Amino acid sequence: MNRCSVLVLAAGQGTRMRSRLPKVLHRLAGRPLLWHILRAVRGLRPERLAVVTGFGAELVEQELAAPDIHWVRQEERRGTGHAVMCALSVLEGLSGDLLILNGDHPLVETGVLEALLERHRQEGNVLTLLSTLLEVPDGYGRVVRDARGGLERIVEEKDADAAVRAVTEVNTGFYCLDVVRLAGWLARITDRNAQNEYYLPDIVPLAIAEGRVGVMRAGDAVALSGVNDRAQLAGLEVAMRARLTARFMAEGVTFVDPASCWLAADVEIGPDTVIEPQVVLGPGSVVGEGCHIGPFCQIQESRIGSGSRIYAFCHLDGVVIDGASEVGPYARLRPGTRLASRAKVGNFCELKKAVIGEGSKINHLSYIGDAEVGSGVNVGAGTITCNYDGVHKHRTVIEDRVFVGSDVQFVAPVRVGVGATIGAGTTVTRDVPAFSLAVSRTAQTHIEGWAERRERLKKDK
Ligand code: UD1
Ligand code: CA
Repeated sequence: MNRCSVLVLAAGQGTRMRSRLPKVLHRLAGRPLLWHILRAVRGLRPERLAVVTGFGAELVEQELAAPDIHWVRQEERRGTGHAVMCALSVLEGLSGDLLILNGDHPLVETGVLEALLERHRQEGNVLTLLSTLLEVPDGYGRVVRDARGGLERIVEEKDADAAVRAVTEVNTGFYCLDVVRLAGWLARITDRNAQNEYYLPDIVPLAIAEGRVGVMRAGDAVALSGVNDRAQLAGLEVAMRARLTARFMAEGVTFVDPASCWLAADVEIGPDTVIEPQVVLGPGSVVGEGCHIGPFCQIQESRIGSGSRIYAFCHLDGVVIDGASEVGPYARLRPGTRLASRAKVGNFCELKKAVIGEGSKINHLSYIGDAEVGSGVNVGAGTITCNYDGVHKHRTVIEDRVFVGSDVQFVAPVRVGVGATIGAGTTVTRDVPAFSLAVSRTAQTHIEGWAERRERLKKDK
């Protein structure tokens, strides 16, 4: 099949969002609206991919920068037709089929674009429009058909009378057309309408005058819905979540309560992983096979190796877990944390830039930051790496098979040699030699008869 080219319109401000952020940068499933469209479009492997930006153009171009995109600026927003006029220069030299897509329909998938392209080619059309039926068509352009059911024109809601407003077949803003004819049509549209804009759909009657024009009516209206305001965005978020969880369930992942979980669009989860209710898997989460993620966990930018268990109420950001490790409940693992396999990090522990070796355990109430912990190490309850001297951060190194008693402070920089033991309550300020015992606490003393004297003092008062 010949490759098509694609033009995405993303210059609008999105006034109805009431936002300083360009609409196409608002997030759905953790990624900008435009990111979703571009993903669907790239599935077609287009010959040329152009995107029109305008409002907040620098931000949009920066956030979605990629070598395959030809960016086009629409300095003044004078409508969707005007946006396409601005792009004509980058479409020059192309022949064949051009897909034009609105940048605010993030649920679109490659399949429907392929189907539109195929229909366009099969019917030998000069233009094919993608429509759908909406129970509540408010805000959309309506598809007006002629007496024989053929496409006649698109009427924007603001230009529509009551009869046209009652039509529930809407324009999705996705078109496939003969790129060679496009400039000729655009030259003849005007801005004489309710919004004083150049409407792209106004090319429809011009195309009809020149050749065959078709409409493909798609069944899955939700997948073709646009985002104009925040309520619609929230609606698509729910739909997207359902789509993602359904996909993972089909691939062998258990969600105990899928409707309560939230997933970013780029999450990966291996089969036989069980996800309890109220779990948030943010952007960059990769969960291996056979893992168990307890309720109320929030995970992002993290890789969790197969067979790991994350108990309830954990927060993981920027973490790598090699596999078969256990974390939580109530653990916070911050960026730069890496757990080798079979490690255990228990309740109320915070780790940051900490590399923990195989089989090591940090089970209770500890802060381990800027640290390297070897394998087979046991870190007692309440252990703290004092990594910050008020000016600089320093590293703590604990070598293999060290035993750290409870309530120990490591005043970094400091190194503990292999096999050493640190007595409970010790403040470690100097390097500890291998296989030695380090203790630094005042010797315990007893004052005989102290309690009796206190009782007497109380009575005398
Ligand atoms: C548009 C269609 C409408 C269709 C609907 C589907 C027109 C005139 N109307 O209406 O028939 O039912 O989409 O969602 O085309 N844009 C620009 N430059 C501009 C104006 C808009 O690039 O000057 C971009 C926007 O960023 C957006 C897309 O074009 O991605 C659609 O613009 P929007 O203002 O949302 O159009 P609608 O009123 O929704
Ligand atoms: Ca829109």
